[in-house]
Amino acid sequence: MHISIITCLPRLLESPFNDSILKRAQTKGLVSVNIIDLREYATGKHKPVDDYAFGGGAGMVLMIEPIDKCITDLKSKRHYDEIIYMSPDGELFTQSIANELSLKKNLILLCGHYKGVDERVREHLVTREISIGDYVLSGGELAAAVVADAVIRLIPGVLSDETSALSDSFQDGLIAPPVYTRPAEYKGWKVPDILLSGHQARIEEWKHEQSLDRTRKRRPNLLK
Ligand code: ADE
Repeated sequence: MHISIITCLPRLLESPFNDSILKRAQTKGLVSVNIIDLREYATGKHKPVDDYAFGGGAGMVLMIEPIDKCITDLKSKRHYDEIIYMSPDGELFTQSIANELSLKKNLILLCGHYKGVDERVREHLVTREISIGDYVLSGGELAAAVVADAVIRLIPGVLSDETSALSDSFQDGLIAPPVYTRPAEYKGWKVPDILLSGHQARIEEWKHEQSLDRTRKRRPNLLK
């Protein structure tokens, strides 16, 4: 998989992709991530990427021209399955969208900033719009990192124990059960006896009951 992320603040995205699982996925050649500075496609002496909104109003708007040039350049090098604009009013990101995107070959994530992008970008250049939640971030960068992380960890070979992505919360429509590790007792707080019993079938049954119970209490909407 290849992910191109278009941003006017490339430094904001450096650390998420240079550590732990996301870094290893790139080192193993399972994914390549290209962070593109939108300013490289700006014209003029000061290389502006934003301007005032027509009709007035507070906040700057990212201009269509550098974004169009950047996307055109990227598309001349490879076919992209989706060009996704990160926006608080986009489709709400879920595990099921992460699963769907993990099957794609090439993705562009476009990060908005300030008041967002010129509406014509949304009308003509992007194929999809994703929000990571009903709150407003300063820009799309952190949202793009969230989406990329959720997608990349699903690519076969990225997680060392591949079954662990399958047992994640939401993956089977349920919240994951609680987990414990040593010591079996700490300050008098005990690990449930069943987990120490060695009866694997009963342990699996207990885990499933815990998942159902947690989902009922914490995310009842998932059971509908
Ligand atoms: N940009 C600003 N806020 C955002 C959000 N909640 N999701 C995606 N992109 C955003």
